[in-house]
Amino acid sequence: MENEKNTLVSRVAAHIAARFAEESSGHDWHHINRVWKLAGRIANDEGADQEVVELAALVHDIADWKFHGGDDAIGPRQAEQLLRQEGASEEVIRHVVDIVATISFKGAGVRAEMKTLEGKCVQDADRLDALGAIGIARCFAYGGHAGRLMYDPDVPPVLHGTAEAYKAAKGTSLNHFYEKLLLLKDRMNTATGRALAQERHRFMEEFVERFLEEWNGAREVHV
Ligand code: ADP
Ligand code: NI
Repeated sequence: MENEKNTLVSRVAAHIAARFAEESSGHDWHHINRVWKLAGRIANDEGADQEVVELAALVHDIADWKFHGGDDAIGPRQAEQLLRQEGASEEVIRHVVDIVATISFKGAGVRAEMKTLEGKCVQDADRLDALGAIGIARCFAYGGHAGRLMYDPDVPPVLHGTAEAYKAAKGTSLNHFYEKLLLLKDRMNTATGRALAQERHRFMEEFVERFLEEWNGAREVHV
């Protein structure tokens, strides 16, 4: 992760940083940078190939399917182009492209299994950035961007309720916690990722509980 050196990783990082400088929809450079750092740390703990993990983290959102009319081949294709342009070996390109193609979580119905340890590290890092304080901020930022309400009191979710209750409350940012964010801690691939997810999960549970309490007036001060 040394930016000063002219390594494959640093060249790809510089390219991605420039390209994502103007993004603000939750896939900005800072998201990628956090995932890059976190993935590198997980890779170190798990004994994964550091270069493959860092490269895959850097290109994992290179062309998100949601912003390209659902064509999920664009990401892998652009990742391949960039890596080849920067001189990666065919073996590294193949591995990284495979990770990019597999990484996106497309709802509760689809479970993409990461085949390699390197892919597992990157997927864990990407999921961790959707959790905790940053995950909460990203969720509401994305919701605002997509024109969603924060919460709809007419369809209140139940924190430890059923899948049906969650579905009934769909469409708000708060409900995204039930659709996805609170499910992620049980989907972590590595021991390191799991440990980090536990803590962030607890913080989100507390947040949702307080959000609903405040909304319902339990914490209002009467003067
Ligand atoms: P990534 O590709 O980085 O894993 P996504 O593209 O799924 O993440 O989403 C980017 C961010 O926007 C995440 O923090 C995610 O929780 C949030 N997000 C995605 N879909 C929704 C939604 N329907 N409502 C609110 N937040 C969302
Ligand atoms: Ni991401």
